[in-house]
Amino acid sequence: MCGIVGYVGNRDCTDVLINGLSKLEYRGYDSAGIAVFDNNQKIRVAKSKGRLQNLIDRMNQDGKPIGNAGIGHTRWATHGEPSDVNSHPHSGGRVTIVHNGIIENYKQIKDYLSDKGVSFASDTDTEVAAKLLDYNYNGSPIETISETIRDLEGSYALGVIFADHPNVVYAVRKESPLIVGVGKDESFIASDVPAVLDYTKNYYLLDHEEIAVLDKTGVKIFDSFGRKIEKELKTADWDVEAIGKGGYEHFMLKEIHEQPTAIRNTIMPRIKDGLPNLEECGITPETLKKFRQIFIVACGTAMHAGMVGKYVTEKLARVPVVVDIASEFRYRDPIVGEGDLVIIISQSGETADSKAAMHLAKKKGAKTLAIVNAMGSSIAREADMLIYTHAGPEIAVASTKAYMVQIAVMYLFAFEMALAVGAIDETECKRLVSTLMETPDMIEKLLEHKETTQYIASSLITADSLLYIGRGLDYALSMEGSLKLKEISYIHSESYAAGELKHGTISLIHDGMPVIAVATQSDLFEKTISNIQEVKSRGAKVILVCRDSYQPEPNTADMKFGLPDLDDLLMPMLAVVPLQLIAYYTSVHKGNDVDKPRNLAKSVTVE
Ligand code: G6P
Repeated sequence: MCGIVGYVGNRDCTDVLINGLSKLEYRGYDSAGIAVFDNNQKIRVAKSKGRLQNLIDRMNQDGKPIGNAGIGHTRWATHGEPSDVNSHPHSGGRVTIVHNGIIENYKQIKDYLSDKGVSFASDTDTEVAAKLLDYNYNGSPIETISETIRDLEGSYALGVIFADHPNVVYAVRKESPLIVGVGKDESFIASDVPAVLDYTKNYYLLDHEEIAVLDKTGVKIFDSFGRKIEKELKTADWDVEAIGKGGYEHFMLKEIHEQPTAIRNTIMPRIKDGLPNLEECGITPETLKKFRQIFIVACGTAMHAGMVGKYVTEKLARVPVVVDIASEFRYRDPIVGEGDLVIIISQSGETADSKAAMHLAKKKGAKTLAIVNAMGSSIAREADMLIYTHAGPEIAVASTKAYMVQIAVMYLFAFEMALAVGAIDETECKRLVSTLMETPDMIEKLLEHKETTQYIASSLITADSLLYIGRGLDYALSMEGSLKLKEISYIHSESYAAGELKHGTISLIHDGMPVIAVATQSDLFEKTISNIQEVKSRGAKVILVCRDSYQPEPNTADMKFGLPDLDDLLMPMLAVVPLQLIAYYTSVHKGNDVDKPRNLAKSVTVE
C-alpha cells in the first residue's frame, strides 16, 4: 500500500526513484509519480495514473527530470479515485511531498486552510498535509515539520522537499513504516528495504516522529523537538537475489518453491534436543502455563494461519483459543485482559488493524506475542514476545511462504504449550517435532509434480463460482485455499464447513459447479465423503484433495490430488501446497497479473 522512495547522491535520481518504486510494486498501487530537483535546482514533477510504465512513457514523451535528489511514490487510492491529479507528489507551493498512510483530521485542516484562502486541486488528504506544511513554513524545514506533525492525526510516512533547500530530502513518520538507507556518498528513504537493496544494505529504522535529513553530507536524524539524535545502523540480511524472480515466471511460483527452505530456517533454530525451544523469543514453559485463554488476531492469510493454530493448540494443549479478525477485535470490546495471551500474526508487521488490535490487547493488560516476518517492523518492535518467521522477503501480493511459516510456528507453539501444561509428554512432543521436521522434504517432493494442479486449474477457468469444503483442520485450510483463488483468479469462491452445507449453501450447487473438497483428517474422513456425495449427486464437479492411498469411487470425485501420508495434525502443511498451485495456475491460465492482482495491496497500512 503506497510506496515511498527518496534519493540524494550522485546518480541519476529519476532512475534510482523508478528502480526503487519498481521494487515496491508488490505493495499494490494504482498511480505513480516523482519530484526531482533538476540541474537548475528547480523541482520537476512527473506523475501518472496506472502502472509505473505509464509514468515512464509519460517522461519519455515530456522529458525526464534530470538531477541528483528527489522523492517518488506509488499510490494506492484512499481519498479520491486513482487519477493523474490525485497522484503524488503533491505540492503546497514551496513544499512538495509524498505520503503513505491516512491523515484522519484532513477535513478539519482543509476547512481551516480554506478559510485562510488556501485552495486545493485534488481530493487527497496528502495535498492537505502539503498545504499545511507550506502554510506553516518559516524558512526552517525541521521546525516546520515538527510543528506541522503536531497537528496531523492518523498515520503517515512523509517524504518532503522544500523548493528553497535544493537537493535536500526530509522524511518523517508516525505509524506508517519508513527506513533511511545509507550508502557511500548517497542516501535514501523508502517504505521498505527492497527498494534500496540495489545500492546498500545499511539502513536506519526511523521511529515515530523522528525527522531524517538527507543531503550531500549524509544523513542526520532529529527527534520531534529538533534535537539531533544518534541511531543504530542496521544491516539487511537479504540480498538482491532474494528479491529477484530467480528464473521463475512469477514471484508467487518462486515463493511457493521457497517454502521448504523457509520452514527449515524458521523451525530449526527453535528446536533443541528434539523439543521446541522458544526461550530466545521470550517464551518459556513457565510463561505459557499461566495463560488461561489465547486470542489469535490477524488479517487475511495471517488470520487463516491463526485458524490452523487454534485447531492444533486446542486439540493438543486443551487451552481455549479464539481467532479474531483484527478489524473486528479492535472494535468489539473483546473480553480480554490480564492472564490472557494475544497472538498477533502478520507477515509485514505493519498491518494497521493488527497493530491497533495489539495496542488494545496491551492496554487491557493481556500479554502479546507477535509472529512476524518483517524484521524491525512496528508489530515486531512493540509486542511483549516475538517469534520471527524466516520466510525472507515475500513479494507476490498473494501470500504463500509467509502462511507456511506462520503455521509452522503455530505448530511449534502448540507443541510447546501442550508440553508446558502437561497435556502431552516429552516422548509425544518429540514425535510431533520430528514429524514437523519431515515436512520440508515432503513439500519438495510434492513440488516436483505440478501437472495435476495445472490440469485441475485448466478446468476452473470458465467457472463463475466455486466452493471449498472441509471439516476441522481441512476447513481451516479451505479458507486459505478459497482466498488464494479469489485474490488472483478473480473467480468467486467460498469456503464452507462441509457439515454446514445442508443449512443453505447446498442450494447453490448446480450442474458442473466446481467444489474443491479437502479430506485429510482420518476421524472426519467418512463424514466429509458423505458431504462430497451430497454435492456430487446434485451435479457438482468434485476435486478431491486427500491422501494418495484413498481411491475414490466414481460417484465421489471427478479429479483427485493425492498427498503422502503424515500425522493428521500436520496434514495442512502438505495440503496447502496443491491449493496454492491450483490458485496460481488458474490465474496464469486466465492471463491475470499473478503477482499484482487488481485492487489488492501487500501491506495494508491504513484501516
Ligand atoms: C493484505 C495482503 C494479504 C495479507 C494481509 C495481512 O490483505 O494482501 O496477503 O494476508 O494483508 O497482512 P500481514 O502483513 O499482516 O500478514
